[in-house]
Amino acid sequence: TPVSLWGGRFSGGPADALAALSKSTHFDWRLAPHDLAGSRAHARVLHAAGLLDDATLAAMLDGLERLRADVESGSFVPAESDEDVHTALERGLIVRVGPEVGGRIRAGRSRNDQVATLFRMYLREHARVVAGLVLDVVEALLAQARTHLGVPMPGRTHLQHAQPVLLSHHLLAHAWPLLRDVERLRDWDARTAVSPYGAGALAGSSLGLDPEAVAADLGFATSVENSIDGTASRDFVAEFSFVCAMTAVDVSRLAEEVILWATKEFSFVTLDDSYSTGSSIMPQKKNPDVAELARGKAGRLVGDLAGLLTTLKALPLAYNRDLQEDKEPVFDAVDTLEVLLPAFSGMVATLTFHTDRMAALAPQGFSLATDVAEWLVREGVPFRVAHEVAGACVRACEERGIELWDLSDDDLRAVSPHLTPGVREVLSVEGSLASRSAKGGTAPVRVAEQLERVAASATEA
Ligand code: ARG
Repeated sequence: TPVSLWGGRFSGGPADALAALSKSTHFDWRLAPHDLAGSRAHARVLHAAGLLDDATLAAMLDGLERLRADVESGSFVPAESDEDVHTALERGLIVRVGPEVGGRIRAGRSRNDQVATLFRMYLREHARVVAGLVLDVVEALLAQARTHLGVPMPGRTHLQHAQPVLLSHHLLAHAWPLLRDVERLRDWDARTAVSPYGAGALAGSSLGLDPEAVAADLGFATSVENSIDGTASRDFVAEFSFVCAMTAVDVSRLAEEVILWATKEFSFVTLDDSYSTGSSIMPQKKNPDVAELARGKAGRLVGDLAGLLTTLKALPLAYNRDLQEDKEPVFDAVDTLEVLLPAFSGMVATLTFHTDRMAALAPQGFSLATDVAEWLVREGVPFRVAHEVAGACVRACEERGIELWDLSDDDLRAVSPHLTPGVREVLSVEGSLASRSAKGGTAPVRVAEQLERVAASATEA
């Protein structure tokens, strides 16, 4: 028996083409567990309001429980004629408890408040899953940072050698944005823990139902202050989608570096066999596909966000059917992150770093020139002069094809009388790193502290 949720004022059923367009069960069926939880909570407030007697409530809850088990086992699935998840489950309930009992569940609710509530429940659940997976990436970075504490590498700006930094400092620089992404999810959750159930189609309920009771039952902190806002707003979806896109973008930046680091030219890392792929024609190939997919999927998640915002733009209040388009992009974002992040953390955890090569390259490209300039400043030389002097050292070295530390005491004196042999204390990677000891700097002592702060933040989150 096809059960439509509407039809009283229509003389016939919808055209097949409309039914095909309208249908959403192929993507909203994943909301079924939340829809059933919503129906249980709704049945209880109908009972509390005196609209269901004890026996009817018991029959309804029993039917909902049997339906839940059938959904879980897969023996109940949407029929071709079901428009959406809500329609399918109401049909399932009526089949189990009969129209006299089942026909009472829809009093005082609309699919508009239902779907707005279920969507929040679904996203809140997956926010926790995604946060956990992001923290796994943080843990992988943390473990690598801990293992390689003390290893220098070339720090870059504009992708050019800039100043030496610790590998651990660099890895933790990828951990912090991810920790903020987790924090963003937590902040978002506090704003999203507000239930629209009871808002009805848009105007609220006249039946004496208690929205706060439903909210508490479904794990929300409270219910909405405005029934129109509750049914028509989707900023919670857009914000969630932004955090997903931001997370993917953050991950893509590390992905890009791993791709570069794994090249012959860099040779900074070797990917574990279990996280790299081969070529169908070139037998020697070992490709960084996990990192490339991470980079690629970031674009997809940005697209999901852009699509959603475009759907929402200029949409008048209250509910409009356009809002059915809010689900697929964010489901895609969730699915994408939930498959990407485990592979990504596995790849990071199993990277082998070629620390000797990284350390050897750290002082190359005259990356200690800033240290020379700053040493001169500590000797009382104005920075503009110091910058010139250090630059002149670089020029002298370049002309002769040598490095800064190859300059003799006489060479140094010839560049500037300020350049006494004392400057040699910063003409080493160790000296340079140790000197950057203010808060947030790459000095080994600071990075060791930072590591513990990242670890603490990851545990708290
Ligand atoms: N399936 C719809 C959605 O996802 C909810 C149905 C609301 N339909 C309606 N005609 N008011 O938004």
